[in-house]
Amino acid sequence: MLICTVLFALTLTKVCLAAAGPNIPTQELDPQFWNRMAKSQINARLKMSHNYNTAKNVIFFIGDGLGPTTVTAARILKGQLAGQPGEETVLAFERFPNVALSKTYNVDRQTPDSAGTASAMLSGVKTNYYLIGLNARASRADCEGSKGKEMDTILDWAVRAGKRTGIVTTARITHATPAAAYAHAADRYWEGDVNTKGITSCRDIAQQLVDDNADINVLFGGGRRHFLPNTTADPETNTIDKNHRQDGRNLIEDWTKYQTSRGRRSAYVWNLDQFNAVNPTDTDYMLGLFEPNHMQYELERNTSREPSIAMMTQKAIEVLRKGDNGYFLLVEGARIDHAHHDSLAKKALHETISFEAAISQAVAMTNQEDTLIVVTGDHSHAFDIQGYSYRGLDILGLADPLEEDEPTLDQKPYTILQYGNGPGYETPRKNLTGVDTHGNNYIFPSGVPVEWETHGGEDVAIYAQGPMAHLFYGVQEQNYIAHVMAYSACIGPYTTSCDHGQPIECTSGCEHVSLHIYAFIALLFVSLV
Ligand SMILES: *[C@@H]1O[C@H](CO)[C@@H](O)[C@H](O)[C@H]1NC(C)=O
Ligand SMILES: *[C@@H]1O[C@H](CO)[C@@H](O)[C@H](O)[C@H]1NC(C)=O
Ligand SMILES: *[C@@H]1O[C@H](CO)[C@@H](O)[C@H](O)[C@H]1NC(C)=O
Ligand SMILES: [Zn+2]
Repeated sequence: MLICTVLFALTLTKVCLAAAGPNIPTQELDPQFWNRMAKSQINARLKMSHNYNTAKNVIFFIGDGLGPTTVTAARILKGQLAGQPGEETVLAFERFPNVALSKTYNVDRQTPDSAGTASAMLSGVKTNYYLIGLNARASRADCEGSKGKEMDTILDWAVRAGKRTGIVTTARITHATPAAAYAHAADRYWEGDVNTKGITSCRDIAQQLVDDNADINVLFGGGRRHFLPNTTADPETNTIDKNHRQDGRNLIEDWTKYQTSRGRRSAYVWNLDQFNAVNPTDTDYMLGLFEPNHMQYELERNTSREPSIAMMTQKAIEVLRKGDNGYFLLVEGARIDHAHHDSLAKKALHETISFEAAISQAVAMTNQEDTLIVVTGDHSHAFDIQGYSYRGLDILGLADPLEEDEPTLDQKPYTILQYGNGPGYETPRKNLTGVDTHGNNYIFPSGVPVEWETHGGEDVAIYAQGPMAHLFYGVQEQNYIAHVMAYSACIGPYTTSCDHGQPIECTSGCEHVSLHIYAFIALLFVSLV
C-alpha cells in the first residue's frame, strides 16, 4: 500500500491501479488541500443570507427509496464512471445550502411504505402504511371507513392558488407516490377498476386522476394499462393486458375530451417522437403515458422510444412556467426503489444518477430567488456499504482488502454493496472469487432470504435551496416537508402567512405544544420542591 501511494505521488497512476491498491488523488496528501476546502466552505456560509422571498414555484423531487447509503454509493459510482476514485464526488443536490433529516416511520409502522410516506410529505399529516391521501383514522383496505378521512395535498393548495401543477414519475402514474398527490384510497393498489372489483363506493386511482384532477397541467409517467379499456390493445405492445379497464371507459380519451371541451391546448403522447413533437409554448395540458406498466430502467431505456426523467422534467417546466402565478411540480425517481427490492444495486444506482440529472436540469432552468427546490427520499432500504476497501475501489465489486483488517471467517470474499434481506441470500455463502458482479441484473447478496428486499427504517436526508429553504434544519418528522413548501409558497394553510418575517399565526395547533411545556415546568417545579 505504501509503495502504491509513493508511486501514485509520482503520478504513475496506472501502475498503482494495476496493483489493486488505493487510487488516491495526489492533492489529498497535502494538508492545505483539506484546510483550504474547509475554509472556503465556511466563507461560503458566512456570505450567505437567508432567502425570505415567497416561492413562486416549488419543485419537489422524491427519490423513491433514496436512503443515505444509496446517495453515497451513487455518488461513488458517478465519480468512478467519470474516471475518478469516486468518494469525493459531489452530487448536484449535495450543493444545496440546506439539509435536514426526515423521520420516515408511518403512524402504524416502524419502517414505512411509499403510500404512507408520500401522503405525509404531500398532505402535511402522517398516516398509515398503504394509505393514499387519507389520515391515520382510516384503515388499510377499508373503503367505507375511509369516508371523511380524505386529506388535501399541496397540489390541491397550488391549484387553488392559481398555480399550474405537474407530476412526473418513472413509475405508473397511478403508483403510490404520484397517487398520493391527487387521489384518496384505502389501498395503494386500487390503481385500476380491476383492482377495485366488488368495491362499489370507492373509485380506482386512474379514474380519480381523470375525473377529479384533469386540471393538473402535466402528467408524465407509465401505467397506460389502467387507462385503456379491455377492448383496446395497447399501442406499443399490441396486446390487451389483464389490467385493462372493465368499465368500458378509455380514460385517455376522456381526458382529451375534457380538455377539448374547455378549449384548452392539450396533448396526449405515448412515445418519444410524439413527446418531442409537442411544442410547450402552445400546450397548457399534457398527458404522457410512456409504458403500459412502469417506465424502463434508465440502464435499459430505449433512448429512441422513451424520454429520460431529465427530459420529462425539462418539458414539464417548459409547460408549467408559462403561468403567471408559478407552479408546483412533483418529480419522482421511482425505480431506485424497484431495483433495490430486486437487489439489483447497479440499476438502483444508475436510477439515482439519472434522478440527479433531472435535478440538475431543474436547477439550470430556475432561479433560486423565486423557486424552492426540495429533494428527499420517502424512505430508505436495507442496503449497506461494507468492508474497509481501498480508496477508489470499484463500488460494484468485491471488498478489498479482506485479509488484513477483518478477514471473513469463511475465507470467501464479499461484495461492497449488500442487502440486509432480499432474493440474493445463499447458504452456504457463494465463493465470489472471480464472479462478475457487474451485470445489470446481478443480484447482490443478502443476509436474510426474502423474495423482495424490504425498506429500511433509518432517517433520510432532505436537501433544499430557494425561498425559506433554511426552514429545513435539524431532525424533522417527514410531514414537515409539506408545511415548509406551502409556507414558502404562501399557499394552502399558509395563505395568510405571506410575511415571512413574522411568526405564523397560531390557533389551536400551537397551544398544544405550550401546554406540554407548562406541564413539564409544573412537573419540574413539583419534583424540585
Ligand atoms: C372486459 O370486461 C368485461 C366486463 O367485466 C368482461 O365481461 C369481458 O369479458 C372483458 N373482456 C376481456 C377481453 O377481458
Ligand atoms: C428501440 O425502439 C425503436 C423504435 O421503436 C426500435 O426500432 C428499436 O428496435 C428499439 N431498440 C431496441 C434495442 O429495442
Ligand atoms: C474461492 O475460490 C477461489 C478461486 O477458485 C479459490 O482459490 C479459493 O480457495 C476459494 N475459497 C474458498 C473458501 O473456497
Ligand atoms: Zn418500495
